[in-house]
Amino acid sequence: MVSNIIDYGMHGEGVAIIDGKVFLVSGALVGESVDISLLEDKGNYAIAKINNIISLSTHRVQPKCKYFGQCGGCQLQMMDYEEQLKFKTLLIKKTIRKILNLDINVADTVACDKQYNYRNKASFSYSDGKFGYYKEKSKNVLDIDYCPIQSDTINNIYSFIKQHLIPSSLNDIKHIIIRAIGIQTLVCIVASKYIDLSYLYKLLSENFYNIGLYLNINTRKDSVVLSGTLKHIGGLKEITVNNFGLTYTIDISAFQQTNNDVQNKLYSSVLEFIPDNATVVNGFSGNGLLSAIIAKRAKYVYGIEINKSAHFSAEKLKFDNNIRNLSNILGDFYKKFDTLRDKFDTIVLDPTKKGCGKQVMQAIDGTENIIYISCNPIALCKDLRVILDNYIIEEIIPFDMFPNTENVETLVKLKRRIKWF
Ligand SMILES: C[S@@+](CC[C@H](N)C(=O)[O-])C[C@H]1O[C@@H](n2cnc3c(N)ncnc32)[C@H](O)[C@@H]1O
Repeated sequence: MVSNIIDYGMHGEGVAIIDGKVFLVSGALVGESVDISLLEDKGNYAIAKINNIISLSTHRVQPKCKYFGQCGGCQLQMMDYEEQLKFKTLLIKKTIRKILNLDINVADTVACDKQYNYRNKASFSYSDGKFGYYKEKSKNVLDIDYCPIQSDTINNIYSFIKQHLIPSSLNDIKHIIIRAIGIQTLVCIVASKYIDLSYLYKLLSENFYNIGLYLNINTRKDSVVLSGTLKHIGGLKEITVNNFGLTYTIDISAFQQTNNDVQNKLYSSVLEFIPDNATVVNGFSGNGLLSAIIAKRAKYVYGIEINKSAHFSAEKLKFDNNIRNLSNILGDFYKKFDTLRDKFDTIVLDPTKKGCGKQVMQAIDGTENIIYISCNPIALCKDLRVILDNYIIEEIIPFDMFPNTENVETLVKLKRRIKWF
């Protein structure tokens, strides 16, 4: 079937309409004419594959990665960067229209300075004799020796570890996690039982500067990567960073944005949205960097974080930088938030992929200013739907935290409506 691609789907697939039915065509670009064949009829829509591209979009580029199309990591490497940014802005606009029934201005997606080599953390899996990433829509590992969205440091260390791991230990290994920021690197080997890694630390420290090695013994059978005992084998214990005039440490396990450039752009925008003299609750505050940045402008900040290790990093950040107008609170946001009633006027939320949920949104309803950072547009819109009657959306800015992938980070600024009666 020959058809014209007229739009993009939620995951960056090309959309064609044939006899009134939507066909999602992975890898096809808007404006292209493609010969496709049906892969799966899902009832109200269908999935198709490209047999042949009849006319090419001017936005089509050669993907840099030899695994593109098989690997589940990137979806958009065939689009030039201008088209990727346009796709992400439209994705947010369409999601808002669909879930909130609003036609609203969405700012242009803020670009990342680098489209490749931008990630500071990789998690490679091991299964069936292969190291790599999961294949597209599968839990089978694709054998990978290089990932172009990771930094060169991560790729070099990954390749070195693969070459030097003792074959007899391989059956117990589940993942290799590498976090590299600036010139410092932490590596964690996740294994199902104790394995001696002293030889690996010796080799790593002889070949790379500023490196530390951990072993995580994770006996879980589910997909959680890091869990259970974390044992420091040698070298660096954490990464020390100077950013926004603050010195802080990042460990191997706590959440940390994976793109330093876009993280800084996002946090600068959050800071601009903080009213002068505000008292702020920063929910889901992670290692405390954002709370500490907000404390530069706000009168007082309360950060609430459930992860113990992230909370202790946040406390260290606070004390190392002598921040006096910040309290880091350890615990569940909903429960701890209740203890702060009437003490604040502004909330900054940065929840996990599943969003805040109805209970949290109902609890924060009524706060003067809400600033919401989200990595999941659907969860974001479902959360906003809970409070929207009482708020005006003042700004929506997508940030390209994850170039070449379908993912996008969104910043929303809301102001409580004035009710006249
Ligand atoms: C997307 S991260 C944001 C962290 C931080 N703002 C940053 O940029 O580093 C979400 C954080 O929410 C925390 N979290 C998850 N559920 C939580 C809950 N119920 N209450 C408080 N924090 C929670 C996670 O541990 C994680 O650190």
